[in-house]
Amino acid sequence: MASRLALVFLLGVLFATPLFAIKSFDFFYLVLMWPGAYCAQSKCCLPTTGLPAEDFFLRGLWTYNGTDSTNMKPVTKCIKNSPFYINQLSNMSEELNSYWSNIRCPSTSPKSSWKSTWKTWGVCSGMNETDYFQFALELRAEADLLSFLSKKGIYPDYNLYNLTDIQSAIAEGIGVTPDIRCSKGPFGKFQLYEVYICVNKVGKFVECPGFQGFTCSSSILFHPFHDWMFNKTSTSAIDSNHIKMPISWSDLHD
Ligand SMILES: *[C@@H]1O[C@H](CO)[C@@H](O)[C@H](O)[C@H]1NC(C)=O
Ligand SMILES: *[C@@H]1O[C@H](CO)[C@@H](O)[C@H](O)[C@H]1NC(C)=O
Ligand SMILES: *[C@@H]1O[C@H](CO)[C@@H](O)[C@H](O)[C@H]1NC(C)=O
Ligand SMILES: *[C@@H]1O[C@H](CO)[C@@H](O)[C@H](O)[C@H]1NC(C)=O
Ligand SMILES: *[C@@H]1O[C@H](CO)[C@@H](O)[C@H](O)[C@H]1NC(C)=O
Repeated sequence: MASRLALVFLLGVLFATPLFAIKSFDFFYLVLMWPGAYCAQSKCCLPTTGLPAEDFFLRGLWTYNGTDSTNMKPVTKCIKNSPFYINQLSNMSEELNSYWSNIRCPSTSPKSSWKSTWKTWGVCSGMNETDYFQFALELRAEADLLSFLSKKGIYPDYNLYNLTDIQSAIAEGIGVTPDIRCSKGPFGKFQLYEVYICVNKVGKFVECPGFQGFTCSSSILFHPFHDWMFNKTSTSAIDSNHIKMPISWSDLHD
């Protein structure tokens, strides 16, 4: 009985001690998303904040534990009930609206994604909100994927590209090899969807401790991304490519 009481007391102390709640991480995953692939696999809508950049978007800057390279673990929610203050991002809201957009339907503001990113991952970074988002924007600007890919003749033009060539084009730009996540695009073909890049705590790109093990084919589609893809039900650039069809009964019978 006495020992059980002692145990209850001990647990109480452990959970009450804030130090116990601090989890540490080894590296960041900078995750960039290609919006053309998103619009090709599901409907996408113009965000309420206006047109985003025609470029890779920030999907996240995730804190990870890479001690075990075969089982890298996300480090999340290090602080309970942490507040999110949108005004701390006011001097970078334009850049965030362009590069950390949310093109989900129905049309929405990206604010809720920033908030959940902050509460899930940002609070584990040891940075304050302003610094964390500024850091993510700077990393994205440095990892200028479209420019690295175009230097090797790789464009979002609906062509199939060698996955290894995509990885080495990016590696030439940032010095480390990224992980590529594919999704299923038109005609069930694998397409370039997300790029995972490892970054150390001081903002240097580093080789990842392990691989995510995503499934892609050896050649993958690089889908275009254009303004006119917003608010379209169609899932492919080819069949929505400005082809006018006589769709209504009156069109056919006038
Ligand atoms: C990281 O993960 C390893 C196991 O893979 C674990 O032993 C270690 O405690 C973790 N580190 C932190 C700070 O959570
Ligand atoms: C926003 O302010 C922070 C400091 O408060 C500064 O480091 C950063 O460069 C500013 N960002 C922009 C886009 O002006
Ligand atoms: C489509 O885009 C418009 C802005 O042009 C937006 O107001 C509307 O909510 C969007 N439609 C859907 C289904 O979200
Ligand atoms: C965030 O941290 C930086 C130092 O890293 C500091 O200069 C800045 O004032 C802090 N911002 C806020 C809003 O606390
Ligand atoms: C992709 O490129 C690599 C290296 O250049 C080559 O070994 C491989 O055969 C290529 N794969 C395809 C599907 O073309």
